[in-house]
Amino acid sequence: MSPPVAIVTGGSSGIGLAVTEHLINAGYHTAIFDVDEKRGKAEAQQLDAGLGRCVFHRVDVTNYDQQAKAFKDTFEWGGNRLDVFFANAGIADTDSIYRELAPLDEGTGLPQPLNLQVFDIDVNAVIQGIHLARHFFARNSTPGGKIVITSSCLGVYSNHSVPLYSTAKHALIGLIRSSAPVYAGMGITINGLLPVLVDTNIWPEHAQHMVDPARLTPKTTVCKAFAMFLANDTMTGQTVELALDQLIFRKQEAYSNENAQWMCDSHELFETAVGPLLPNPVGQNYVKLE
Ligand SMILES: NC(=O)c1ccc[n+]([C@@H]2O[C@H](COP(=O)([O-])OP(=O)(O)OC[C@H]3O[C@@H](n4cnc5c(N)ncnc54)[C@H](O)[C@@H]3O)[C@@H](O)[C@H]2O)c1
Repeated sequence: MSPPVAIVTGGSSGIGLAVTEHLINAGYHTAIFDVDEKRGKAEAQQLDAGLGRCVFHRVDVTNYDQQAKAFKDTFEWGGNRLDVFFANAGIADTDSIYRELAPLDEGTGLPQPLNLQVFDIDVNAVIQGIHLARHFFARNSTPGGKIVITSSCLGVYSNHSVPLYSTAKHALIGLIRSSAPVYAGMGITINGLLPVLVDTNIWPEHAQHMVDPARLTPKTTVCKAFAMFLANDTMTGQTVELALDQLIFRKQEAYSNENAQWMCDSHELFETAVGPLLPNPVGQNYVKLE
């Protein structure tokens, strides 16, 4: 049997690189998709060790065609299989909603539009990625696979300094919880990592001196959570906070009252509204999770 195959976006550095190494040690043939070609190529070459188990693709995840082509190449490279998709590439705030960074438009005197690239990378590209993963998972000899997404503890707690990033990471938690009951019917699990503070290149050099090393979550905790998702074929829809050496499951909000519960549990109401978009006939999409 051919070895299992994984894709890691943002695998040239930090959390993605640590998980790539973990996957290779666990026997996965792994493709790194990243814009950082220099670092990614060097890391992939070292991890590959001449054994054909790690490959680098220069992919800007916001470019759908690039991401789609790299998925196809990886699927074929792996012997027509894809087992794991780690949607991890991400950046912090790309603009400010508190003050104008760009000069006013000369013609209108109005503010220039915000640069919302953080949503292109942290949200839209992740959704396009899981769309591609689903496509290739369905073509496995046994259909299905595992999706893991790097959200953030700020998706739960929020932070005034990085409101765009907090919003983007919050959206990913919604994505995981919303899609899991339908993907469960396709043999796909989808779970999220919510790191608290990990020492990676996401921290600009000018802010690094402010981080007390004792407060950093080690990458071993990230890999411990990832290993848990890899080992479990039924765990899905989960978001796990990674704080120092702890894995803390963050539960969905409890229903505020009976009416909220009625609305959220009325699966057939919503399924009827969007029926043509769903994989199965109305009433046959939702899988009750453990
Ligand atoms: N480090 C932390 O404390 C922390 C905490 C919570 C969440 N996260 C999340 O973890 C994920 C990984 O970040 P990290 O901390 O390892 O940072 P990092 O900067 O070390 O790694 C991020 C990688 O993503 C790549 N990338 C950025 N934009 C890309 C694009 N458009 N296409 C392809 N690749 C792209 C970068 O080149 C880089 O290699 C991010 O989603 C980040 O938001 C990090």
